[in-house]
Amino acid sequence: MGTNERVAVVTGGGSGIGRASALRLASMGYAIAVLDIDPGRATTVAAEVQAAGQRACGLTIDVAIEDSVRLTFEEVRSRLGPASILVSSAGIADFTPFDQMTVAGFDRMIAVHLRGTFLCCREAFTDMAAQHSGRIVTIASVAALNGGGGPGLAHYVAAKAGIVGLTKAIAFEGGAHGITANTIAPGLVDTPLIRGAGSPDSFYDRIVARLPVPRLGTPDDIAGAVAYLVSDDAAWVTGQVISPNGGAWI
Ligand SMILES: NC(=O)c1ccc[n+]([C@@H]2O[C@H](COP(=O)([O-])OP(=O)(O)OC[C@H]3O[C@@H](n4cnc5c(N)ncnc54)[C@H](O)[C@@H]3O)[C@@H](O)[C@H]2O)c1
Repeated sequence: MGTNERVAVVTGGGSGIGRASALRLASMGYAIAVLDIDPGRATTVAAEVQAAGQRACGLTIDVAIEDSVRLTFEEVRSRLGPASILVSSAGIADFTPFDQMTVAGFDRMIAVHLRGTFLCCREAFTDMAAQHSGRIVTIASVAALNGGGGPGLAHYVAAKAGIVGLTKAIAFEGGAHGITANTIAPGLVDTPLIRGAGSPDSFYDRIVARLPVPRLGTPDDIAGAVAYLVSDDAAWVTGQVISPNGGAWI
């Protein structure tokens, strides 16, 4: 894809994997819409993109709410132009034993991850179909492949497995419109998400010690996969799951 004046929309762009993806895509020449539920984070990262020399806007969104997604994408179109790339990274996490999982907790996980990915992909798909070109990159998790690798993640695993299926289905419909859709299934990446999920650091240390590549991932490890999936090298790659995970799932 040519990069001049093309627009990348990054949800959850205010932190972690989304932020790293926004900055990487900016370095590749894209204008960036940084969308996040946290207004301060969205504006801060948009300012970082602008400081790196690209057009950017930071907008508040709740990806789980249809009107919020619709209005925010309209704002992106008027400020920067239609989306040619979507990175759908907004997410939440907590560890809850299965027999204590509430309907509200389960539904919130599905709403943010699965409904949110659906709503943002649908908006971006419309923009991309009109341009006969586009790249959709969703962020699932290695948890969608390995059941979470331990207890407490049934709601998260169900939501992430849904994202894998959704992305594959979008790939079928996107082809006729010049759109590819792929999902990245990261292993453990050192971001505020895992630090705030309620497990002590020693929990992650034990997991890392067993990895073939024995370290936590960095947000840049995932941004590298995003960069590949939007590049010309990935023009024939669609409906795929790429899992940078240090060997956590082989
Ligand atoms: N960190 C990991 O180990 C890991 C592993 C696999 C997958 N993931 C996935 O990667 C994605 C990014 O996670 P991260 O680790 O960068 O976390 P992060 O907490 O650093 O970033 C997530 C961002 O999403 C935003 N967000 C949360 N709810 C939102 C909503 N309803 N609408 C809009 N924005 C919302 C948050 O404000 C935050 O800025 C998530 O989907 C997560 O599930 C993370």
